[in-house]
Amino acid sequence: MSENKRASFGGKLSVILVSAGSAIGLGAIWRFPYIAGKHGGAAFLVVFLLSVLAVGIPAMLAEFAVGRKTRKNAVGAFRSLSKYWSWLGYSGVICAMLISGYYYIIAGWSLEYLVNSADGSMFASSLTFKEQFEAFQGSYRPLFYCIAFILLTHFIVSRGVEKGIEKASRIMMPALFVILVLMAVRVAFMPNAVEGYRFFLSCDFAEAFKPETIMMAMGQAFFSLSVGMGCMVTYASYFKNNNNLLSTSFNVSILTILVSLLAGLVIFPAVFSAGLQPTEGPALVFVTLPEIFSGMPLAAVWSAIFFVLVVLASLTSTISFHEVITAYLSEEFKLSRKVSAAITSALSILLCTMTFFSLFGVDFFTLFDYLSANIIMPLGALLTCILVIWFMKKNFMKEQLTNNGSVNKYIAPVVVFMLKYVTPLLIFYIFIKNFI
Ligand code: PFF
Repeated sequence: MSENKRASFGGKLSVILVSAGSAIGLGAIWRFPYIAGKHGGAAFLVVFLLSVLAVGIPAMLAEFAVGRKTRKNAVGAFRSLSKYWSWLGYSGVICAMLISGYYYIIAGWSLEYLVNSADGSMFASSLTFKEQFEAFQGSYRPLFYCIAFILLTHFIVSRGVEKGIEKASRIMMPALFVILVLMAVRVAFMPNAVEGYRFFLSCDFAEAFKPETIMMAMGQAFFSLSVGMGCMVTYASYFKNNNNLLSTSFNVSILTILVSLLAGLVIFPAVFSAGLQPTEGPALVFVTLPEIFSGMPLAAVWSAIFFVLVVLASLTSTISFHEVITAYLSEEFKLSRKVSAAITSALSILLCTMTFFSLFGVDFFTLFDYLSANIIMPLGALLTCILVIWFMKKNFMKEQLTNNGSVNKYIAPVVVFMLKYVTPLLIFYIFIKNFI
């Protein structure tokens, strides 16, 4: 389809905000702090930065190139490059479904916490925050909020690429930055905050270069940058021909790292200030933070502000994997956008419901998370790198990176070298390690 007929994102800023919207989500705000907390604070940050540079950015560029060149959904894109590679697109669509099966659940928790902060009930309860979290988990409410989140995502995606996704990201992403900076400034004035900075910014290199830490950091880089599952392929199919892929991927990565860092700078000082443990795990944001807010003046207001942040960040990410499936259904089966979005939402509700009821004794939440982040995304990224370098015509990547010779002439060969040797070998290494 020509660029004129197909929807496209507006200017440079829109492209960055929309792609950063996909990247920045629960990965940066919820997953990063608790993994960093468990793996030595700043030590983890260092390896994470290296992983973004060595595997995240090159893999994102490969996906951008595939998407913009073909201007198709994930399946159509890989198929039009080579009919033998369309399965890579299908694996992306399947991965988007698996992620839907658990991501909406955590996003739903944040919606519930936002509502309970705003109506004050969270701080009026006689239960501790841990008990509240457990009571919430044991009730029907997580399913209710999860479905509410899917419907919210549905509303935006069904409005289309420009009026829905682009417009929402242009409003939500700046709001997210403002809230995060506001929170970081607020916690800096809490007693004992300095202990948190010390913990988060102290560097333990022995911990940083343990194979396990490297593995976690690379996994985090894939998840956080949304690479390895066709998401960036789908988004890049809406980029304009003169978009500079290299600078877009750098900007998106820098923003993602910045938000992960800021999230750490909000969470750790707050945790230490309240005398709590930074290694709380997944519950860090949902149990520890309310505890902290409760000791502050205007607890409900700060808590509501924080959970607005988590909801916004999650929403710009759920939109992106919803779009992977919606674009696939609408282009491959010639369905209208509204119908495709409705099918995607119905599928997401079904998957999330399965996750709640742990059908057939299988814990779907853990299974979906494991399969997507540890298997499909690394494999998808690895194979995409191999495809664009070894199976496409020699100049495929160079043409995409330089916009046919007009930009990035000197840095493009470096990226091609990385994609040829460094990135695939590193991904292969983590993949094998992960399996063992
Ligand atoms: N990058 C998102 C996050 O860090 O929360 C998660 C994600 C979004 C993964 C979209 C994959 C994807 F296609």
